[in-house]
Formats: sequence, C-alpha cells, structure tokens
Amino acid sequence: MSEQSILARSAPPPNLYVVRVEDVRHYTDRLFAFTTERPTGFRFRSGEFVMIGLMNGEKPLLRAYSIASPAWDDRLSFYSIKVPDGPLTSRLAHIEPGEEILLGRKPTGTLVLDAVTPGRRLFLLSTGTGVAPFASLIRDPETYERYDEVILTHTCRTAPELRYSEEVVAAACADPLVGEAASRKLRYVASLTRESFALEGRITRLISNGALFAALNCAPLDPAVDRIMICGSIPMLQDLKQMALAAGFVEGSNQEPGSFVVERAFAG
Ligand code: A2P
Repeated sequence: MSEQSILARSAPPPNLYVVRVEDVRHYTDRLFAFTTERPTGFRFRSGEFVMIGLMNGEKPLLRAYSIASPAWDDRLSFYSIKVPDGPLTSRLAHIEPGEEILLGRKPTGTLVLDAVTPGRRLFLLSTGTGVAPFASLIRDPETYERYDEVILTHTCRTAPELRYSEEVVAAACADPLVGEAASRKLRYVASLTRESFALEGRITRLISNGALFAALNCAPLDPAVDRIMICGSIPMLQDLKQMALAAGFVEGSNQEPGSFVVERAFAG
C-alpha cells in the first residue's frame, strides 16, 4: 500500500470520508484530473465545491475543490493545478488509482442553479481550472431545463490547457442523459492568451470589445435575459465582477439569488 493510502487510512477524522481514487489523467505538466468513488450518502448540487486532501502527519491537509462531475454521477471528478511547492497539490499530483484521499462531508458553493434567477441565456465564464464546476453543470439536465442557451467560455494560456474542456463538452453532447439537450443548447467558446488561436485574448477583453458575441453571432450581455456564473483566478473574478456590476447585473447567493454569481478556482 502506498504512503498516501496508509496516511489517509491511519486516522480519518470524523468530518471526512476516505475515498478510493479510481482514475487519474495528466493533461499538462501543470494540470491533471482524477476521479474517486462516491460515498453512499454524499449529496451535493452540481457546481458545488468540497474539501479534499491527504493526511499530513497527524493532521489532514485540505483544500477546496470544485466537483467536476454532475450531481447524478456515481463517481466524483476533480480537475487540479499542480503547484510545484504547493503543500497539497505537489503530493496529489502523484496520486494513483487504488490510493485513497480524504473528502469533506459538506459540499457548498454559489455556482449553483439555485443562486441565479431564471433567465434565457446562461453564460459560464471560466479560466484555467475554473472550468471544473461548469464541467458539472453542463452535464446536469436541470441546466438545460432552466435555460434556452448555455454558453461556456474557457480561456487558457496555451492549447494543451484546453483539452480538458474540449473533452467535457464532447462528453456532455454524447451523454445519454443530457446529450440531446446539450447538443441543441450548449455553445463552447475557447480562447488563448499566449498562443495564436482562432479567438485570442482574455475573456474580459473579448466581452468589452465584442469579439465574444461576434464569435457566437449573438446579442451582447443583457441583464434582463442573461445570467452569468464566473470561476477563475482572483484577478479574473475581480475584473469580471466589476464588468458585470457596471453592466447592471446583481450578484446572487444561496440566500438571495441574483443575475450573476462568482467563485474562485482554488489551488495550493
Ligand atoms: P494571461 O495569459 O494574459 O495572463 P492562469 O493559468 O494564470 O490561471 O491563467 C488562465 C487564463 O486566465 C490565462 O489565459 C490568463 O491570461 C487569464 N487571466 C489572467 N488574469 C486575468 C484577468 N484579470 N482577467 C481575465 N483573464 C485573466
């Protein structure tokens, strides 16, 4: 048994599950995804995050991770950055199928359908690993029941960093449960900032100069009919939040749904 499994098993605190890793996939030297079993009784809403981690000596070392699989799935998926000196991700990056990790018992978060008011179009704006909660939402049938159009944007530095979102969009469109609705309603727009590509630039610039709407051949953002979910780095969230507020959108929460919601992509 590996070091991680022994550590995870030695003293699982009562507020944590110990779950087996079933699958690991490395996308780049900075990015990887993994899937675990889902404990019986572990409930969450698509788009939420949960604490996951490993034992570090006597104590659990935990970080918040968005759950990238939908609420109906019997497995849990996560998409992670590898921070070379990050206390958790530098170890998690070496995890292998069959090993165990710790999983919090209380998922939470604001990137959930209940935190946004009804509308016609749902924009899911992401950078980097911020696409993870949207990988969950685009495979949830309720997303398509609530909106006529679902527009997922993903901006990364280089093309290999887009492979994950390309795969989850293809998986949603091929899915027996949501594939028909996703094929009709889901639109995917990728952009790169450090390599030449069909669409280049940060999402903030693509919105302000209209290039996003030109690429989609659609009307610009309108708080009367559009809803926005935002997930990425802290500077990206700050910039997009300011833009959304300036355009007349109102920030929502679980207590009081609004026309946009924000959550940072966690790492460390
Ligand atoms: P850039 O290459 O211009 O920094 P990261 O991998 O560092 O998390 O970045 C993911 C993507 O988010 C990159 O394409 C990056 O663009 C972009 N980005 C970084 N800061 C912002 C911001 N303040 N607003 C919008 N996009 C951003």
